[in-house]
Amino acid sequence: MAISATQNYTTLRTDNWRVAPIITVIILGSFVIYATWRALENQYYLAEPYLSPFYSPLINPEWWPISPAILILWAPGLFRFTCYYYRKAYYRSFAGMPPACAVEGRSKESYSGESKFPLILQNLHRFFFYAASIVLIFLWYDAFKAFNFDGHYGVGVGSIILVLNVFLLSMYSLSCHSFRHLIGGKLNVFSSCPTRFTLWKGASSLNERHMLWAWVSLFGVCLTDLYIRLVATGVITDMRLV
Ligand code: FES
Repeated sequence: MAISATQNYTTLRTDNWRVAPIITVIILGSFVIYATWRALENQYYLAEPYLSPFYSPLINPEWWPISPAILILWAPGLFRFTCYYYRKAYYRSFAGMPPACAVEGRSKESYSGESKFPLILQNLHRFFFYAASIVLIFLWYDAFKAFNFDGHYGVGVGSIILVLNVFLLSMYSLSCHSFRHLIGGKLNVFSSCPTRFTLWKGASSLNERHMLWAWVSLFGVCLTDLYIRLVATGVITDMRLV
């Protein structure tokens, strides 16, 4: 059950602490509804040379007759679902465990955090990072293809949108806690591996803004898909800049 705007919670806080979890419910809930609808729609995802990120890589419909998004979206979807930041966000806003810092939540004494089934499965996050990284490679390929108009180089508004989208998604992945551990973890002495130390410092710097990358990349991927759908349905025309 999502956080209630009217329910009384035990806290000494006097600020408007409900705003953040309520906004989280609205945005994350809207994203899930939109992404599910688009994944099931199974059309309007290709407006040459642009391909919706929800349907990348492009799969031949003769080989897979139902929506290919179902084959694809589990990887980035579970990557986000198990993300350390999103876990905090939806535990607070949807489950109220607790709804905010210094606010008594719905947790019972039997609450065991992520040490038991099913929440222990959140530890699979690093494996979803690997799966989502493969999808990310395809998205970079799509972004480069977005400059190829019938064999000729060109730049449309959609080309820029696709590059921006994959950039934001890359920042989200590179700022991931699992990626930071992947490149800097299990090292006792950084001086023995200066390259990894440099990469780890870069990832740590991005990691400080992980929440920001999580939100802007979420909006980015939705707006990119929406733009391509509007072009594919003829509601708008893609403007050619070059
Ligand atoms: S911790 Fe958020 S994507 Fe890995």
